[in-house]
Amino acid sequence: MSDFELTLLDYRAERFPRTIAHRTRKVYDRLAAVYPVSTLLFHSRAHRAALRDSGVQDGMRVLEAATGSGEMFRRLVKANRNGLTVGFDLSPRMAARTFNRVRRKHPGAKTSCQAVDARQMPFADASFDTVFCCYLLELLALDDIASAVNEFYRVLRPGGSLALILIGQNSGIFNRIYRVLGGLVPAFWGRQVEERVPALLEARGFAIASDRTVRQNFYPSRVLVARR
Ligand SMILES: C[S@@+](CC[C@H](N)C(=O)[O-])C[C@H]1O[C@@H](n2cnc3c(N)ncnc32)[C@H](O)[C@@H]1O
Repeated sequence: MSDFELTLLDYRAERFPRTIAHRTRKVYDRLAAVYPVSTLLFHSRAHRAALRDSGVQDGMRVLEAATGSGEMFRRLVKANRNGLTVGFDLSPRMAARTFNRVRRKHPGAKTSCQAVDARQMPFADASFDTVFCCYLLELLALDDIASAVNEFYRVLRPGGSLALILIGQNSGIFNRIYRVLGGLVPAFWGRQVEERVPALLEARGFAIASDRTVRQNFYPSRVLVARR
């Protein structure tokens, strides 16, 4: 595929209709039962890196946006046994699955997980010490990424951290495959946005504290921690 064709594909993918969120919710609702396989194969190494880099300590108020089927959420609850760990996902089935599993595994933990949209969160200003968000921004239109980043900033206390995982763009072959998949089912795959996000975070007032790339089974992830 020529560079021009790739640019066109990129351009088309960029023109996400704002309404794609309802399609995304449907797709992830349907896949809730099988989604853990994908996390196990491609995301768990980056999850561990984000947890280490974030500086989360037991006793904090921690939020995870877009928990999916809850693999990272369970790690967070385990690391924060005496704190408060709140999660949410746009897909009600993902949120319910995540909550039910965490309640079974950590019955005494102070935790909740509900269906919420990251673009408009029902949490008070400065109510969390750390916010995690893994592999969500790829699924949002550019304006919606800005809304979600604004929300992360608003709900974090001053000095709090945002731990973000994005799909890496540092492998040409992977990027090509991802463009094709994203063109086929944009509501599930979205498109890569990793290279644009750091500037967006800084424009919103975050300072990047750590930045690294992790690879698992050819799947690249960029793990960023930014301070408010
Ligand atoms: C690629 S999955 C990532 C799941 C999990 N964070 C992980 O690391 O494996 C993206 C998740 O984002 C959720 N999602 C998509 N749009 C959302 C939105 N606007 N607000 C909250 N969650 C959203 C989807 O339902 C899905 O569960």
